[in-house]
Amino acid sequence: MAVALDARFYRTLPALEEVDEVEVDIAWFVYDLVPNPVQNVNVLTLDKTVYTKFEAALLAITHFEAGNEARFIQRISTKAEKLGRLKMATIFPNAPLTLTSDQISEPAAQYSLFDDTLREAIVNVASVPQRSPFRYPGGKTWLIPRVRQWLRSFPRRPAHLVEPFTGGGIVSLTAAFERLADYVLMIELDPQVAAVWRTILNGEAAWLSDRITGFDLTPESAAAALRNTSGGTREIAFRTILKNRINRGGILAPGAGLVKHGENGKGLMSRWYPETLKRRILDIDTVRSRITFCEGDGIAVMYGWAERADAAFFIDPPYTAGAGKKAGSRLYLHSALDHERLFAVAGTLAGDFLMTYDNDRDVEELARRHGFDTLPIPMKNTHHAEMTELLIGRDLDWARK
Ligand SMILES: C[S@@+](CC[C@H](N)C(=O)[O-])C[C@H]1O[C@@H](n2cnc3c(N)ncnc32)[C@H](O)[C@@H]1O
Repeated sequence: MAVALDARFYRTLPALEEVDEVEVDIAWFVYDLVPNPVQNVNVLTLDKTVYTKFEAALLAITHFEAGNEARFIQRISTKAEKLGRLKMATIFPNAPLTLTSDQISEPAAQYSLFDDTLREAIVNVASVPQRSPFRYPGGKTWLIPRVRQWLRSFPRRPAHLVEPFTGGGIVSLTAAFERLADYVLMIELDPQVAAVWRTILNGEAAWLSDRITGFDLTPESAAAALRNTSGGTREIAFRTILKNRINRGGILAPGAGLVKHGENGKGLMSRWYPETLKRRILDIDTVRSRITFCEGDGIAVMYGWAERADAAFFIDPPYTAGAGKKAGSRLYLHSALDHERLFAVAGTLAGDFLMTYDNDRDVEELARRHGFDTLPIPMKNTHHAEMTELLIGRDLDWARK
């Protein structure tokens, strides 16, 4: 018998005992949607084939060990409330409305069918809402399930998530939308990128989204808009979004070329989705009371926040040194950084931090010298090959569970 199934669903199943091809009763074809950021499509790809006996597989799938009831109720309730249709009291009239941290920290093996974050080894980008108006070089959408896992690993939700190198801001936005921290502080040095965040977060989201939907994109109109240097912050924000959409790879640094052929030969238009951009921008407007943006040097802000034990720092700096995949590249206006200084400041933080870097020997050595924990984790590159990124923190045991 052959069964084709979705990789995310497969990962929620208990481990199936595998047998040799010659003994097989059921062949499980596990398919995944693998994002191809170059063409901006998801490609249905055979991830692996698993051979099992019929009875052993059936028994494994249908027999669960009972687990913690309170955690189950909490999870169902969160999902239901997200849907906005059901309230916990309707489903479980006697359910406690809040749980203590020891109830929440129980292992949740038996609830895996309801869990879309904890078990993903290689992360499918399609499972993470795209919330940023940017398509950002080095963007961390693929890391979001890990970030959720990290922010949920504390006994108490962090009061502040601080992101010193915000870029496209997917981590900050996800934290604000999913209430992974009470408040979010975003910092970015590039004035073009900063103009976008300042415009959206200072109450001009509607203006910016109207400017985008009202713009008739042609090669000529784009060139004219980008030649124009007049206007204040919000006009710079519009031009930044435009550039980010029509430059190859979303690169905003000087010297970036234009998208040539784009998706289906659509050229410049191929990544211009005005209605989608509008929706994302207006959505961010709904959570802006929880977000603060600061234009400046991320390391200096970390220094200023070093004594805040209730802050968590997500640190994704530009890294073009060493011999890694980004070596020598110029993806950002500000690509150079004193990594030694960054690590030194990270070592003084009272709050926890999570850094992410190219998995590079120099970086590993830097982390080792500062006494930090490191963990290489799989990511997918644009050619679907498996590559690793290096997570760095004080103690990454939460990521090993
Ligand atoms: C790797 S990118 C961050 C990508 C981001 N995590 C995302 O998902 O989109 C690094 C960012 O740091 C910014 N940057 C560089 N030097 C900086 C500094 N000293 N302070 C703040 N931001 C800086 C760059 O402009 C770039 O946007």
